[in-house]
Amino acid sequence: MSQRSLFVTTALPYANGAFHMGHIMEYIQADIWVRHERMAGHNVHFVCADDVHGAPIMLAAQKRGITPQEFVAEIAAGRKPYLEGFHISFDHWHSTDAKENHELSQSIYRRLVDAGLIYKKDIEQYYDTVKEMFLADRFIKGTCPRCGAKDQYGDNCEKCSAVYSPMEVVEPYSTLSGSRPEVRSSTHYFFKLSDPQCVEFLRAWTTGNGKDGRPTVQSEVLAKDAEWLGKDGNLADWDISRDEPYFGIAIPDAPGKYFYVWLDAPVGYLASLKAYCEKAGLDFDGILSNPDTEQIHFIGKDIIYFHTLFWPAMLHFAGKPFRVPDHIHAHGFMTVNGEKMSKSRGTGISPLQYLDLGMNAEWLRYYLAAKMTSRVEDVDFTKLDFAQRVNSDLIGKYVNIASRAAGFIVKKFDGKVSTAAMNDPLLDGIRAKAEQIKDLYETREFARAMRVIMESADVINEFVDAEKPWELAKKEGDEARAALHRVASIALEGFRLLTLYLKPVLPATAERVEAFLGLSPMTWQDVTVPLSDATPIQPFKHLMQRVDMEKQLDKLVAEKAPEPVQEPTLPGNEAIAPECTIDDFMKVDLRVAKIVNCEHVEGAEKLLKLSLDVGEGRLRQVFSGIKSAYQPEDLVGRFAIIIANLAPRKMRFGVSEGMVLCASDAKDKSLGLFLIEPPAGAQPGMRIR
Ligand code: MSP
Ligand code: ZN
Repeated sequence: MSQRSLFVTTALPYANGAFHMGHIMEYIQADIWVRHERMAGHNVHFVCADDVHGAPIMLAAQKRGITPQEFVAEIAAGRKPYLEGFHISFDHWHSTDAKENHELSQSIYRRLVDAGLIYKKDIEQYYDTVKEMFLADRFIKGTCPRCGAKDQYGDNCEKCSAVYSPMEVVEPYSTLSGSRPEVRSSTHYFFKLSDPQCVEFLRAWTTGNGKDGRPTVQSEVLAKDAEWLGKDGNLADWDISRDEPYFGIAIPDAPGKYFYVWLDAPVGYLASLKAYCEKAGLDFDGILSNPDTEQIHFIGKDIIYFHTLFWPAMLHFAGKPFRVPDHIHAHGFMTVNGEKMSKSRGTGISPLQYLDLGMNAEWLRYYLAAKMTSRVEDVDFTKLDFAQRVNSDLIGKYVNIASRAAGFIVKKFDGKVSTAAMNDPLLDGIRAKAEQIKDLYETREFARAMRVIMESADVINEFVDAEKPWELAKKEGDEARAALHRVASIALEGFRLLTLYLKPVLPATAERVEAFLGLSPMTWQDVTVPLSDATPIQPFKHLMQRVDMEKQLDKLVAEKAPEPVQEPTLPGNEAIAPECTIDDFMKVDLRVAKIVNCEHVEGAEKLLKLSLDVGEGRLRQVFSGIKSAYQPEDLVGRFAIIIANLAPRKMRFGVSEGMVLCASDAKDKSLGLFLIEPPAGAQPGMRIR
């Protein structure tokens, strides 16, 4: 394939706090992909920036008594240790408040005005007269208009789950000042997404392909978009303005009006690329307007709407040199022990603490890679799983090969491999996996890529176990020596290939291995360039340690406080039976039966004898312990449900061919016994499923 020009971004994190593990996971996913592309010889520009605008950051700065600019500068200053620590290879990190973003946002807006897609409308909104600002819905609280619960949010009630508009809230108050807000009118600017040409464009774009020929969005994302776009394209127009005071970018020719943060945030992708181009002496307009450039955004599942509807529409109608994205790659969320990460509940894990505990960043990169797919699925972090993947895969399978093989080559063969061994079929087999592995990286099927790589590691380890080089090393004679040379050389070349395959995930380890092996930085082309005896192998120093459960993982993942022990309430005085599958259920054949006749049974205390029509052209005889609840004459002509495939049971009074279903409490018989009856209309023989 010819060289691709890739413009790749990750979502711009809000500059209201330090990174959390979710951010790092997104960067690791994108970084692995980017490193793979670079190894394939493609030209990648990989950028990100802080998303700094909006009311929350403005208010947070106010609280601290500093300007929003000072506030976000502090956040920006703290980014580096994380990005370097986790080997994230961004070319540039920018800010949405930088001059490039002001210019680009305003220029895109002007283009949208020219395209006739912006209009003004007066809307009514709450205004805080103490804070002297309009209030977004989340800053309003009050009494639920439905159930009267106090202190409910402006748009929904946690008590009764009612959903309403802030204007309906009884006795509203501002969460910023506690005062009662006034309703005021203000002019807002709208992007006319409901315009038929927008809807038409978005239908085509969401169902189209990127320049690589693959779908623009994942199938799950397309399903959402299709739902949002609706059958008749009923997208709501988008309110893109906010009134001062607001930390944002001024709207041209609209005094006191600012762009809503979500308008200028994605433009920050372009601003960051532009600033990078200026720094690196590249041609921003040239890259953007080159039809071969591919624009790719990695994002989380919570911001799909913005990235697959608003953003492409903005770019498309702004026109050249702006271009619509080739792909939006959405990922799921990282959870810890199956729970959402939350600082307040202590369920998160901190990336900085991870590094401070001396944990290797590449463990996390490998762990996430081993769990990530191209689908929008959550990725769960658990200590045991992490320890297992790191210690048994990375150390046990991968690193071990090096320590087993390199020692022999260095000590016994002056660091020189046997070139004759490089064409061994075992190695060719591993080289033959390269195309599949590259393809899996390309399609973000990292979990499968890691599996294929570890299978190759298994092949090498099994080979070494079978050939027992440590025994060969003890034997005298040329034959044993040649055999040892061959085995250690094959193992070491195998290790080189594994290192190459893992390089997008383990860039730092790969660099060290390259140094030991005397290789220049490996790319995908090096699959077919084996180790040679021209440059001797250096003695291997420790490559990677095992993760320690007590000293590291136990400290990283705080143990959850045990749930308060509560007497479980048993429904019907009986625990729910162990889980069963639908197949288990389908084994039980339940049928509608008509009670054609019913009699007492001589000598039986509890039983009634039923004659049932199950639509089989004959009657079944069933004995049932329902005498305490029913008289025979009550039942004749009624319907019941029976287990029709229950093994016939021989009783003292005759054979019972089934069982009728009844409801009862397991302990308290005084609550009664109830025959289950199908609703009127059900015919004998119908199956219940
Ligand atoms: N500022 C916006 C994005 C603007 S892009 C033009 C934003 N910021 S964020 O800080 O809340 O999130 C940044 C990214 O982190 C998003 O892609 C989001 O989905 C992702 N994640 C947030 N929590 C996450 C997890 N728990 N797990 C994985 N990713 C998570 O949204
Ligand atoms: Zn309520």
